[in-house]
Amino acid sequence: MSEKKYILLTHGGAGSKNEYQDGARKAADTGIQAINSGASVMDVVCQAVAVLENDSRFNAGVGSHPRADGSVEMDAAVMDSLGNFGAVAVIEGFKNPIHVANAVTRTQYKVLAGQGAATFAQKAGLETMTKDQIPGTGTDFSTTDSSTDTVGCVAFDGTNFAAGLSTGGIKGAIPGRVGDVPLIGCGLYAGTAGAVAATGDGETIAMHMTAIRAYQMLERGDAPQKVLDEVISWFHPEDDAFGLILINRNGYAGGCNRSMAWAAVSEEK
Ligand code: GLY
Repeated sequence: MSEKKYILLTHGGAGSKNEYQDGARKAADTGIQAINSGASVMDVVCQAVAVLENDSRFNAGVGSHPRADGSVEMDAAVMDSLGNFGAVAVIEGFKNPIHVANAVTRTQYKVLAGQGAATFAQKAGLETMTKDQIPGTGTDFSTTDSSTDTVGCVAFDGTNFAAGLSTGGIKGAIPGRVGDVPLIGCGLYAGTAGAVAATGDGETIAMHMTAIRAYQMLERGDAPQKVLDEVISWFHPEDDAFGLILINRNGYAGGCNRSMAWAAVSEEK
């Protein structure tokens, strides 16, 4: 099988409508442009995820779902195959948590949470967001789609891999709740064998240590589609929404046990 020049996949989250595929495609195109302009694979993934965070149809950034008290707490993470990882948890008031997670990769820390993460983001000069910029806020949970989850991207730039995730979490959850996204090896993982980004029921994804186990299957040589089929079978379709995008040097796979807007772009050498 010939090696790919680049591969980039995006998703709008488990439960996102298939007709929102244009949003996933726009994010993928932004990522490909970033690859072509020489951005690092970490920055590529973050630029693509930021497009999804800026699209209020998805549960991240301006589309984030509110907690039980109406607050909006977001999680994001990014990892590359060079051994860099950064994440934020329960951050409030910033438009693109993925850019905050990227900034964390350039510090001595791995995960920043809550007010400390917000203070860090402010010092890093990252763009703020007020609650009136978020269409779904308030405690009237009837107005937004509660079933969508987490946006994500995986990319291979011909040399390195990266994965990124961002989420508004579960609508109506207790404030302070953190899902799989900022937990390394749960929602995402990237290494020299590939990259994996999950979406869906964060508690179940975390308990399966989903991303690292999917990555280990890629590492032992399983094809992305085989890994996807196996990992989806761990989740009960009635109870646990679950979707995955994953890549290795030769190809990719994506799928979900719900509807899911996603897009893939690849080119051979
Ligand atoms: N999968 C995102 C979350 O459960 O928070």
